[in-house]
Amino acid sequence: MLINPQEIQQVANEVMNMLHEEEIEIFNEFYDAVVAKDIEKIDELFKVVLFDVEDHFKTEEDMMEQNKYGYFQVHKSDHDTMREKLNKFHKRWEILKGPTELQGFLEKDFKSWLKLHISKWDTEMALHLSGGN
Ligand SMILES: [Fe+2]
Ligand SMILES: [Fe+2]
Repeated sequence: MLINPQEIQQVANEVMNMLHEEEIEIFNEFYDAVVAKDIEKIDELFKVVLFDVEDHFKTEEDMMEQNKYGYFQVHKSDHDTMREKLNKFHKRWEILKGPTELQGFLEKDFKSWLKLHISKWDTEMALHLSGGN
């Protein structure tokens, strides 16, 4: 398991909490395949991961736009940074098929990024949507 769901902060919006729960589940499954160096499973799950991340980010961005949220750009640019990293690692995976590199990225970069992003930007956004600020 990469991320224990209890490590992730709940935000004041149930749609977002559901997106996060789903994402953690998929990343945990992906991580297990990476640790097991199961090349076929990683091939398959990497696509699911990319699709799920895009769904998560795009849904939040649409919600921010609809609500004319002031921190839209800075929140989106934090999503974009992770989109670029995931795409870069996917391209490298397609060529190198190196699970060790992926494992390092998930443990040292993605996990802390997700926790921080949710506790900072998603928390602030959810408060705004619920009329809290
Ligand atoms: Fe989020
Ligand atoms: Fe976000």
